[in-house]
Amino acid sequence: MDTKKIQENVKIAYGKVAIREKGCGCGPCQPNVKEFAKSIGYTEEELSIGHEDANLGLSCGNPIVLANLKAGETVLDLGSGAGFDCFIAATKVGNKGKVIGVDITPQMIEKAKDNALNKGTENVEFRLGEIENLPVADNCVDVVISNCVVNLSPDKHRVFKEIFRVLKPGGRIAISDIALLRKLPAKIRQDISAYIGCIAGAVTIDDYEESVKASGLYNVKITSKGLSGCFDFDTNDPLGNVISNNLEVGQSLAEYAISINVEGFKA
Ligand SMILES: C[S@@+](CC[C@H](N)C(=O)[O-])C[C@H]1O[C@@H](n2cnc3c(N)ncnc32)[C@H](O)[C@@H]1O
Repeated sequence: MDTKKIQENVKIAYGKVAIREKGCGCGPCQPNVKEFAKSIGYTEEELSIGHEDANLGLSCGNPIVLANLKAGETVLDLGSGAGFDCFIAATKVGNKGKVIGVDITPQMIEKAKDNALNKGTENVEFRLGEIENLPVADNCVDVVISNCVVNLSPDKHRVFKEIFRVLKPGGRIAISDIALLRKLPAKIRQDISAYIGCIAGAVTIDDYEESVKASGLYNVKITSKGLSGCFDFDTNDPLGNVISNNLEVGQSLAEYAISINVEGFKA
């Protein structure tokens, strides 16, 4: 698939997700986004902070828990969506800290800004941009977090190079994402709904680790706990359709894909 075309499709799809239009791939397929967030590791306390309108049910883990944020830190959230993790991070770093969310989809940035305004959160800022070309200065971030986004980038090496550039020396990453356990059937691999749905753009855990290490980050650790994410097997959903139609009878997506947590440090 052509890179530019992929990103255009990603923007269109997530623009629809931002306004809660159904049937857009990795859309708001969970009937109860709060319960879904609990199932992937968010606490009641975090969910009482995480703005209702910011939790679109698009996550695949809890990078906040992994990040172990401290008061006063500067946090950057890659692919911040409607700001779900940013608002939780903002309370952890406090008013001496700062959270920056970057997202490629204008409707997501607009929604996140509205949420910040409605919530009165002042230590969070949302910037329109690509994670492959971060609109962030060099050496100014303590922690990079991200939730179910790097799989959507056609150039993961570039993403981790950019992360390395913006991290302060001693900075760290805490990323939740999707990786592959084995090669997907060709029809799923080539399907744009499966790409938007966080599956077809995913790479193997070994390839993921290689792109993180190639950036210069060290002590890279990748852990996993099965597959969790917004995968709707309703055949009215484009992603559900392509998956059900192209796996063999009795096979499940969990045989191919897995949710991962990624940690690493800049010297
Ligand atoms: C699956 S959603 C996750 C949103 C958010 N992290 C959450 O957990 O609610 C993926 C998000 O990444 C954004 N995105 C996808 N590709 C991107 C890129 N190359 N640069 C910046 N943002 C991107 C999309 O617009 C969307 O908001």
